[in-house]
Amino acid sequence: MSIINAPSLANCDFLTFGEQVKELVDGGAAWFHVDIMDGHYVPNLCFPVKVISELKKAYPEVLVDVHLMVTDPIAYIPQLKAQGTDYVSFHMDATNFSRRVIDMIHQQGMKAGVVLNPSQNISVLNPVLEYVDYVVVMTVEPGYAGQKFMSGSVERIEELIKVRTEGNYSFLISVDGGVDYPNALACARLGAEVYVTGNFTVFKQDLPLAEACRKFQKVMEEEQAKR
Ligand code: DX5
Ligand code: ZN
Repeated sequence: MSIINAPSLANCDFLTFGEQVKELVDGGAAWFHVDIMDGHYVPNLCFPVKVISELKKAYPEVLVDVHLMVTDPIAYIPQLKAQGTDYVSFHMDATNFSRRVIDMIHQQGMKAGVVLNPSQNISVLNPVLEYVDYVVVMTVEPGYAGQKFMSGSVERIEELIKVRTEGNYSFLISVDGGVDYPNALACARLGAEVYVTGNFTVFKQDLPLAEACRKFQKVMEEEQAKR
């Protein structure tokens, strides 16, 4: 599995959103990471669901990865499907019924992921690992872009990769929050596949967005090839 660059569109400049999205696609971004917040699970709002259908209409080949930061993930699933979502992840602590949410996402023909906050033990995931397509490891507290990657996060990825290897599971591992070159390279050495790229690798760089995406892909794949 090659490295998946999933730029977090929350980092786009909203006044030039369409142009920036085009640049990300020109730079080879494979997934769009779309943060959806409800102002309750986290004290912020981000995208309306309608952005998904607009993205899919313009760039059907790019997979839309929705990160639900909401207290009622089930309420979103039918509309996410209707908008054309490919991947949906929800926070483990947003529901008492994570198996049901995973099943509902799958019944709608989408890939399902669970998200773990920095304060939750990796073992929380054990009951669902055989059912999910991906696990998103938050490396910041969710809700805002531009935060610093938390200490101990690389070790958490390492622990999850050990669980995946020992259990012979096939889920992908996505790293979300404060991803920069040193920590992304460390995660690539361990074997994580998906990188939610933000301020520290793609946006707010001294490079056009497309070039920043190409650079990230190249540097990460070179590191992955050394494994
Ligand atoms: C945080 C979001 C992230 C964020 C990533 O709640 O889930 O997707 O936008 O961007 P950076 O890496 O800049 O924090
Ligand atoms: Zn996110």
